[in-house]
Amino acid sequence: MAKRSLWGSKVGFLLAAIGSAVGLGNIWRFGYMAYENGGGAFLVPYTVALLLAGIPLMILEYALGHREKASPPLAFARVNPLWEPLGWWMPVVAFFGINLFYATVIGWCMNYFAFSLNLSWGADTSDFFFNTFLQVSDGGPFDLGGIRFPILIGTILTWVICWFICYREVSHGIEKASMIFMPLLFVLTLVLVGWSLKLPGAIDAIKNHYLHCDFSKISLTTEAGRNVWVAAFGQIFFTLSLGFGIMITYASYLPKKTDIVGNALTTCILNCLYSFITGFAVFGTIGYMAQAKGVDFSEAIAGGPGLAFVVYPEAINQLPAGNRIFGALFFLVLIVAGLSSAISLTEAFSCSICDKFNISRKKATSLICGLGLLGSIVFCTRAGLLILDIVDHFINNYALIIGGILECMLIGWVLKSGVMRRHVNSVSTVKLPVVWDILIRFFTPVMLLIIVGSALLNEFSARYEGYSVKALLFIGGGILFSTRLASFILSHFKWDPARLTERHHEPEDDDLLV
Ligand code: PHE
Repeated sequence: MAKRSLWGSKVGFLLAAIGSAVGLGNIWRFGYMAYENGGGAFLVPYTVALLLAGIPLMILEYALGHREKASPPLAFARVNPLWEPLGWWMPVVAFFGINLFYATVIGWCMNYFAFSLNLSWGADTSDFFFNTFLQVSDGGPFDLGGIRFPILIGTILTWVICWFICYREVSHGIEKASMIFMPLLFVLTLVLVGWSLKLPGAIDAIKNHYLHCDFSKISLTTEAGRNVWVAAFGQIFFTLSLGFGIMITYASYLPKKTDIVGNALTTCILNCLYSFITGFAVFGTIGYMAQAKGVDFSEAIAGGPGLAFVVYPEAINQLPAGNRIFGALFFLVLIVAGLSSAISLTEAFSCSICDKFNISRKKATSLICGLGLLGSIVFCTRAGLLILDIVDHFINNYALIIGGILECMLIGWVLKSGVMRRHVNSVSTVKLPVVWDILIRFFTPVMLLIIVGSALLNEFSARYEGYSVKALLFIGGGILFSTRLASFILSHFKWDPARLTERHHEPEDDDLLV
């Protein structure tokens, strides 16, 4: 059996993990959530969620990957063979539920990077995005209406980059790419933030809309306030890439001697800090645009793709100087942040396939990147945005969170959290207190259950974004059901018996990461 790949350095592993966590969501989701949910006051539920669910689960995923030296299906099967389907579900959902459309969205960013060089989106950026670029079909999500070739080209390019990076050994591929991507991302982001802060009206917008604290919005005595807490837990989960098996996979390439707790703390804190800092660029730029156009800030701001592809281009149009460079910089930040997350999604699935079917990383990567490209084509059609919206909603609200709950059950109750805590403490510099057991066994799963419960309630009280029941059931229900089915099928193949017992910790691993 081939020797398991290893990270070449501690920094390489950390940058790759942070690269997975820092993604499009940090840029277009966090700021808008803060704006809607009490501004600076949102940091309270956000930090509580980070401390009580984010960090404990990050430690759990690192610990499981490190202890078993295995991808999620193999790690879960080693703890208890009955749980293998869950181990498959995570990377399968990550790949089919997220990676396929994530690649297309990076393809959009590549197109917009090119557009920004001559501001080809024109004056009406909304009309350009929906009607000229995406050509969103009027007939709803089933009216595919042909492929948009510029988007397909961006998507192909994204898959080729993912393939090129994941095809090579971990330390030569993902690690090297992260060593380039992450410092580049941090520098570009800082330039963007610095530039945005200098725009007229930026500081006022930041003070009045981003940092001002409206504590009434987070009050636990109102239903709206409780929803903010639920949203904060959901965001922490998504932003840290938890529940997809990615962190399990990345930690499986760690050598024996590794400070699990320290690494988990660093990943979580740097990711959240990145979100917070990018918020300054978002609010500064939109604040400037609102002032320049003489509109109210609340009319100017948006979240998600609307922020990146409609509001930002509009703001770029309004800039007093350097519009093209500012635009190119912004879309480059999105591309780099997106790519480092996309490679982690690809790697989690490809590593699972290698572990189970004993095939080489090269073969597995080529196979699944080809498959991924084929699957992404559906998002390159004129209904792509609508399908993406439904898939994203169901995966984030259900698959991810249910994965997290079951993961807590497996480690907290089947394996016993004490066993895992002792493992963590045998290698970590910072020791894990018993309170971690309580969080993993009780608090985190209960909190996640509340999130799923409230999402379900919302589902029945109003159709998501007004889509037809047929579309929600076929696309949303379909992706949950088909990924589940695929996981059961994949777990029915037999393991090479040696795989289930051998943990592959090589004695010389000990000295690698000092
Ligand atoms: N954490 C990423 C973000 O905030 C999203 C993501 C989730 C990426 C899961 C990869 C895997 O954008």
